[in-house]
Amino acid sequence: MTYYITTPIYYPSDKLHIGHSYTTVAADAMARYKRLRGFDVMFLTGTDEHGQKIENRAQEVGVTPQKFVDDIVDWIKDLWKTMDISYDKFIRTTDKEHIEVVQKIFKKLYEQGDIYKSEYTGLYCTPCESFFTEHQLVDGKCPDCNRDVEKVKEEAYFFKLSKYQDRLIKHIEENPNFIQPNTRQNEMLNNFLKVGLEDLCVSRTSFKWGIPVDFDNKHVVYVWIDALSNYISALGYLGQDTDYKKYWPADVHLVGKEIIRFHTIIWPAILMALDEPLPKQIFGHGWLIIDGGKMSKSVGNVVDPSILVNRYGSDAIRYFLLREISFGQDGNFTNKALITRINSDLANDLGNLTSRTVAMIEKYFAGTLPTERIDNEYDASVKSIISHNVALMEENIERLFFDKSLENIWIIIRRLNKYIDETTPWLLAKDANDTNKLAGVLYTLVEGLRIVSIMIEPFMPNTTLKIWQQIGLSRGELTHWDTIHEFGKLTQVHAKKYDNIFPRIDVEKELTELAHPVSATSQSNDKLDITAEISIDDFVKVELKIGEVIECNKVPKADKLLVSKIKIGDQIRTIVSGIALYYSPEEFVGKKVVVVTNLKPVKLRGILSEGMILCASDDNGNLVAIGPLGEMVSGAVVK
Ligand code: ME8
Ligand code: MG
Repeated sequence: MTYYITTPIYYPSDKLHIGHSYTTVAADAMARYKRLRGFDVMFLTGTDEHGQKIENRAQEVGVTPQKFVDDIVDWIKDLWKTMDISYDKFIRTTDKEHIEVVQKIFKKLYEQGDIYKSEYTGLYCTPCESFFTEHQLVDGKCPDCNRDVEKVKEEAYFFKLSKYQDRLIKHIEENPNFIQPNTRQNEMLNNFLKVGLEDLCVSRTSFKWGIPVDFDNKHVVYVWIDALSNYISALGYLGQDTDYKKYWPADVHLVGKEIIRFHTIIWPAILMALDEPLPKQIFGHGWLIIDGGKMSKSVGNVVDPSILVNRYGSDAIRYFLLREISFGQDGNFTNKALITRINSDLANDLGNLTSRTVAMIEKYFAGTLPTERIDNEYDASVKSIISHNVALMEENIERLFFDKSLENIWIIIRRLNKYIDETTPWLLAKDANDTNKLAGVLYTLVEGLRIVSIMIEPFMPNTTLKIWQQIGLSRGELTHWDTIHEFGKLTQVHAKKYDNIFPRIDVEKELTELAHPVSATSQSNDKLDITAEISIDDFVKVELKIGEVIECNKVPKADKLLVSKIKIGDQIRTIVSGIALYYSPEEFVGKKVVVVTNLKPVKLRGILSEGMILCASDDNGNLVAIGPLGEMVSGAVVK
C-alpha cells in the first residue's frame, strides 16, 4: 500500500511565511497519519526556483540566481526541520535530474505536435509570473495582486491545451473526488473549461534563468511545465526501476486555491499528452488571511513561522493551524487566536488531563496502578464516546478535514476531564474501601489518555512522546494505531510526573511582545541574509580569538542552550550557545574554541552573552564546535 502526497513547490524568492507552513503542516500530518496506518508513504515538498522574479531578486542582492536560491533553500530546510516536517524528498527545480526530465518532456511534446512555435502577445504580471488576457484584468491591473501588468510580444512555444478540453471536462465530471472541495470543481468547470481553453505559452525568451529548451537555446521553459513536472521528476520519471512506478499516480496534490487551476487543468492536460495517469485528487485549500487580505510575500503582510515556533514550539503551531481553520476555507490568522487556543485546548484541556491523571496515580498509588479495579457508572459513556470519536476522527482525516478530526479528539479529551469531576477521585481516596474503585477511575483516565496520545501523533508528534514518558509507554505494541479501536489494552500502568506539556501563556504579555514581528507592514525583504561576496576589509572587522572553556552549565528551562565561561587571554567572558543537544557541559569544559570577540553583547534568557563560539553544522543535524588543530594559547588571534 503506497500513499503519495505533495505540497506545491514554493518560490524561494524570499523567506517563506506561515501560509506556506500551513500547506506543509497539513501534508505532514497526513503523511504521518498514513505511515501510522501502515502505508508506504512518499511525501514530497520542494522549491520552484526559476523565473524572472528570482532573477531580479538575485540581481538586487548582488548574487547569482543559483547562490540566491541556495541560501533561501537552506533557510527553508531549517524551517521544516524546526516544524518537524517529515518529508521523504525535497525537490528543487534546479536539480540536474529535474532539468533533464523537463527537457525530455518538452521535446517529446514538441515532436508529437502538442507543442508548437508561434508568437505571443500578452499581458504579464512579473510578481505573479502569470499572463492574463484583457478580460481577466481587474481595472486594468493584475487580478491577483492588483499591480500593473506589462504588454509583451515575443516568439514563443505553445502547448495545445485546447485540444484536451473535452477530455478534461469528462474526467472531472466522471470523477467527483478529483477536485476538492466540491465548490472548486464547479469553479473550474464553469469559469474555465466550459468558457473554452486557450493554448498555453510554455517558453520565454525575455529572461535566462530557466531550463533551456535543448533544441532551441534562446528559449527557456516557462514556469508551469517546469514547476508541475516536479511531481513526477522527483520520482525519477523516465528513468529505470524508479519510484515513479511505485508511487504514481499521486494520491493527493495539496495546493492553495489560487493555483488549483494550474493543477486541475494544465497539469492533467500535460499528463494526458504524455499518456500518463492523472493524480487521484487535487485539494485546493483556503487562504490564511491577515488584516482582511491574503497573507502574501508580494503584499508583505507576512508572519514568520520561525518566530512563533521558537516561542511556542512546533506542536502548538501545527495544532493551531490545522484546528483553527477549516481546511478548504479561508481563515484569519491572529496572535490572539493562537494564544487563546494554546491556553484553552492545549494547556487546559490536554495539559490538565495529562497532569491530573499522572499526578493522581503518583499521589494515590505511588505511580503504579494496582491490577484490581472496579468500574463505575460513568465508564460506559466514556468508552462509547471514545469509540464513536475514534471512528469519526479516522473518517475526517481521510477526507483531509483536519479541524474536524482534531475536534473529535478533543471531544474525548473534554469527556475525560468531565469524568474526573463526575467520579471525584479525591473523595474516593479518603476511604480505604474505595481503593479498587479509585484504581478503576484512574485506569479509565490513563487508558483514555493513551488513546488520545496516539491519535494526536500525526499533528503533534513531540507531545505524543511527552505523554508516553509520563504514562510509562514507549513505541511498541501498545502504541500501534490499531490499539485505539479497543478500550482496555493497557495492562500495567507506571506513571511519573514531568513538566507540564503545555504551560499556560500570559496573554497580554505575549501579545505585546509579538506585536512587532507580526505587524502588517513588516517587510521580510530587508531581513534576508543572503551572503554576498565580501571584501577583505569586511572580513577584518570580525575579531576572532582562541578561547578556553573553563566552566560550562545548562541554561535552566532552555533545552538547547549552554552557558560557558571562556578564558580569552586574561579575560573571562560569559557566552550562551545553542549547543546543548550536541555537547554536555562536562565534555565541553577544557575545549579550545574559536570565539567572535567583538560581537555586540546580547541578553539570552536573561544572561548577557559576550561573544559567539564558532560551530559547523550540516543538513543532517550534526554540529561541532571549531577549534585550533594544534597547540595554541587562549587569547591568540585567528585571522
Ligand atoms: O505558487 N494561505 O509558489 P508560492 C494559505 N511556485 N496558503 C498559502 C498562503 C496563504 N496566505 N500563501 C501561500 C507557487 N500559501 C508556485 C507553485 S506548484 C507546481 C508551483 C501556500 O511560493 C499555498 O499552498 O507562491 C499556496 O498554493 C502556495 O503556498 C504558493 O506558494
Ligand atoms: Mg504565490
